[in-house]
Amino acid sequence: MAALGAHSQTCPISNVRGLATKRAPSRQSPSQSFRLQATHKIAVLPGDGIGPEITKVALQVLEAAGKSHGEQFEVKESLVGGAAIDATGQPLPEETLAACRASDAVLLAAIGGYKWDSLPSASRPEGGLLALRTGLNAFANLRPAVVLPQLADGSSLKREIVEGVDIMIVRELVGGIYFGQPRGFSTNDKGHKTGYNTMVYSEPEVERIAHVAFDAARKRRKRLCSVDKSNVLEVSQLWRQTVTRIGKEYPDIELTHMYVDNAAMQLLRNPKEFDTVVTGNLFGDILSDEASMLTGSLGMLPSASIPSEGPGIFEPVHGSAPDIAGQDLANPMAMVLSAAMMCRYGLSLPQVADDMEAAVTSALDQGFRTGDLMSDGMKQLSCSDMGQVLLKAEQTSGNGFVHALKGLLPNWTPRVRGLVLLNLLVLLVATNWVILRDTEAFFDAFDFAALRFAIAAAAFSPFLSKAIQDRKIVQAGVELGAWSAIGYLTQAQGLLTSDASKASFISTFTVLVVPLLSGLSGKGIRRSTIISGVAALIGVGLLESGGGAKFDYGDLWNFASAVAFGVQVFRTEHHSRRLPEKSSLQLMSVLLFTIAAISIGAAGLKHPSEVAAFAGNPSAFLAGVHPASLPWKQILYTGLLSTDVALWLEVVALQDVSSVEAAIIYTLEPVLGAAFAYLLLGERWGPAGWFGAGLIVLSSLATQIWGTPDSPVAEHKLVDAAQQISQKASESVSSSFASISESMSVDDDQSGPSR
Ligand code: IPM
Ligand code: MG
Repeated sequence: MAALGAHSQTCPISNVRGLATKRAPSRQSPSQSFRLQATHKIAVLPGDGIGPEITKVALQVLEAAGKSHGEQFEVKESLVGGAAIDATGQPLPEETLAACRASDAVLLAAIGGYKWDSLPSASRPEGGLLALRTGLNAFANLRPAVVLPQLADGSSLKREIVEGVDIMIVRELVGGIYFGQPRGFSTNDKGHKTGYNTMVYSEPEVERIAHVAFDAARKRRKRLCSVDKSNVLEVSQLWRQTVTRIGKEYPDIELTHMYVDNAAMQLLRNPKEFDTVVTGNLFGDILSDEASMLTGSLGMLPSASIPSEGPGIFEPVHGSAPDIAGQDLANPMAMVLSAAMMCRYGLSLPQVADDMEAAVTSALDQGFRTGDLMSDGMKQLSCSDMGQVLLKAEQTSGNGFVHALKGLLPNWTPRVRGLVLLNLLVLLVATNWVILRDTEAFFDAFDFAALRFAIAAAAFSPFLSKAIQDRKIVQAGVELGAWSAIGYLTQAQGLLTSDASKASFISTFTVLVVPLLSGLSGKGIRRSTIISGVAALIGVGLLESGGGAKFDYGDLWNFASAVAFGVQVFRTEHHSRRLPEKSSLQLMSVLLFTIAAISIGAAGLKHPSEVAAFAGNPSAFLAGVHPASLPWKQILYTGLLSTDVALWLEVVALQDVSSVEAAIIYTLEPVLGAAFAYLLLGERWGPAGWFGAGLIVLSSLATQIWGTPDSPVAEHKLVDAAQQISQKASESVSSSFASISESMSVDDDQSGPSR
């Protein structure tokens, strides 16, 4: 093509084309989104009273939050408590315990009711709960009491006293006086009837709960208060000695001891003094009820009961509220927060937990309340309506940018919206062509890429700290970043010998690589896609060559680059099936940092003498650089605007449009580039060029009009193997990211619900 050819030596098309081939997540239909995901098996025990109503809401919110992170739950409901007594005569039937044991986590609502209150203690609903705790050996009971600012006025204490309270009570749950032997009734030597229980703890029992408590404190404000009654009880003296001994292994945790009567008082006097509390079964039962009252509503408190191995039990602290059961009046939020705790502590899905907790906070922030939380000026909702509000809040949480962008567009179908965004993106990227023409005097393509991506990565850095907490995002970002970096750098290398217009032509092979890989993976290729792809390629050929182009070895680099970008597009589709829509900005941050790191490394390798000069005498080297003389307008335009905005548009668009279609739309870019050159630089091309441009435009339009989103995928073995290799490589990189992130994130990771 005459126009592009004329400027081929001065316009770094590599940067233009490279941008256009960067690919990012597309959203698939739910049915195919999670096929590589392990499902999490959850035993659900709705129990009695309001249990079934709040369970329904919690499961809806859980499923939605899981879905947006590519996680799926397999739910099996079983009977427990009064419902089980009515059906089987047992508060914890064998099948229920077996189902719980076979699960990854147990989500329990509430048990008990007036109806069963007169039964003997072991056969009452409560007996089922205790049997479940011992049956799963769930010895560590975590009961957070967090005062939410929105609800601080609901507390029976003054706002100044409770605002900011954030306590975690770690209660021993399967020992102590609840289970100690001997126990029972008898007659003493005076002939009086007696009842007796034994409060007993062995050293190992205290040691294991102490470890849990110290670990919990470490993830919080690093203060642990052990509560006992060692001024009177031997069992408490052993408790205190043992906790003190274990405390030596946690020099970073400040350990204090308090008698239980004093603790009960201090909880009311100055609850903010407490961070993490560890105590035995009976004291924990009492103090956790007291602490829950600080928060204003029992309806907001979740709990977790965790064994050393196997599934934990997650349940609200509140009871079954038989007085309001079945009336759609209950507050489902403690149950939702319990499911969140389940995700955080039981299933290692902290991001799903974050989302569910954020949904609760958002509902409260919007002024929605259930009856138990009602105050002036708030909107009272039923249990099921609160469920709807929570669902909506979950779906919009953390996704403000993307929603804002989509909200700007008219109410078109998602696909049309995606296509419009892709066309806008191509327009934006094509402007690079004109903008960048002056930069070659200052940089070679390697240095320019290093600078541009360093700037782009810096712009996305706010999302990085969150991104590196999620292994899947890191893996995907590192891998996709590596493929793109290979694409950019091979292209830069190719441009050293081959001319730019030919490079641009060769790079359109990406259009074929994507459907090819896609077809190899077992996904059908639509005939219209093939025809459009071929037409687009012919169009580019006519537009570019005008005949006379000769082969040189730089073409091989350009071809490698087209393949690398094609693989990247294809792999992005793969990752996008596992990553949630709302993590797109985080993914971008990892991706851009990866490209920046590789580009900087490559620029260094390309110019070893400059690196050596810098290493030898940094200040002298820097004195030789004159920043004022650099083309900053162009650098910032490409680094910030055309790179970042284009990538973002792409991320959003590809949530609804397939990458095969997108690849075809991207062939428009050379046409637009040439059109800009025609208008702004006064370049002209002949009839063949016009014809080629027309073909490209037509094929792009045909794709947009007749193309449909991808059909379901059955992945091919070959591709699976490639994925495994690719995954291994990115896993090793991401594990080092993960260890960094662990050291950075302990504090905000497990600090309790809805903050
Ligand atoms: C609790 C409850 C139970 C307990 C009862 C229902 C057995 O009060 O979970 O705090 O005492 O552990
Ligand atoms: Mg209790």
